[in-house]
Amino acid sequence: MHALVERLTHNARITVLTGAGVSAASGVPTFRGGDGLWKNFRPEALATADAFGRDPRLVWEWYAWRRSLIAACEPNAAHQVLAEWSRRFPNFTLITQNVDGLHEKSGTATVLRLHGSIWEVRCWESCAASPGQWRDDRTEFEVLPPRCPHCGGIIRPGVVWFGEMLDPDVVDAASRAADCDIFMTVGTSAVVYPAAGFIDQARKHGAFTVEINPEATPATSTVDLALRGGAETILPEIAAKIGC
Ligand code: APR
Repeated sequence: MHALVERLTHNARITVLTGAGVSAASGVPTFRGGDGLWKNFRPEALATADAFGRDPRLVWEWYAWRRSLIAACEPNAAHQVLAEWSRRFPNFTLITQNVDGLHEKSGTATVLRLHGSIWEVRCWESCAASPGQWRDDRTEFEVLPPRCPHCGGIIRPGVVWFGEMLDPDVVDAASRAADCDIFMTVGTSAVVYPAAGFIDQARKHGAFTVEINPEATPATSTVDLALRGGAETILPEIAAKIGC
């Protein structure tokens, strides 16, 4: 860990990529872990546009359940350390695959959200009156699927589903942030692209690459430093060593 601590200087360009594991200690289920969502639910039945087209009520039942679960969760020590770093380090970038909003809830000002937000929605018909994507904090819905307030049609969750394009502006910004001095991948199984590809991009830019995960991933053998353990434990340890 010393090799990392000595590089975490004030002006270092620091980029952190997070996945579901960073929210595990807050009680948000991961996707591929032991009790992960994809162990109990079929992604092709719940997290694709086709699935939504076939049965929007079923998909919304699942997202309403996830919203109520996440609404009861609070950011953990890992989120708090990253929020503090986003204030302390002028060249700090946080890229997340998470849709739970816990980074924002912990006070991280700028978050590059690769997969959207479970707290946003948009009109399924993309009606002209609707403003692209908008905030919607409801956990209870009178009717499912919920209705678009602009056209009366149905709305869909503001997340990126399998097979869908990510926002090119967010992907570009994340790719630019991979050109950094330190790249940390925290709590991701590193199997979903383009997110998993940023680790390699950073390595090619000469960044010192670090993985924080209790388990090995396909990225483990490629990083300069693999720290085995929970993000909610290891990030506070690093923060203590650098005094922030
Ligand atoms: N701290 C750090 N890492 C943890 C912790 C923890 N406390 N608990 C579990 N992990 C690790 C697991 O070992 C696993 O490698 O977090 C990783 C979670 O992996 P996934 O469940 O696959 O989640 P993620 O990598 O974020 O998935 C990527 O896939 O399903 C899609 O769109 C969804 O954004 C998601 C994407």
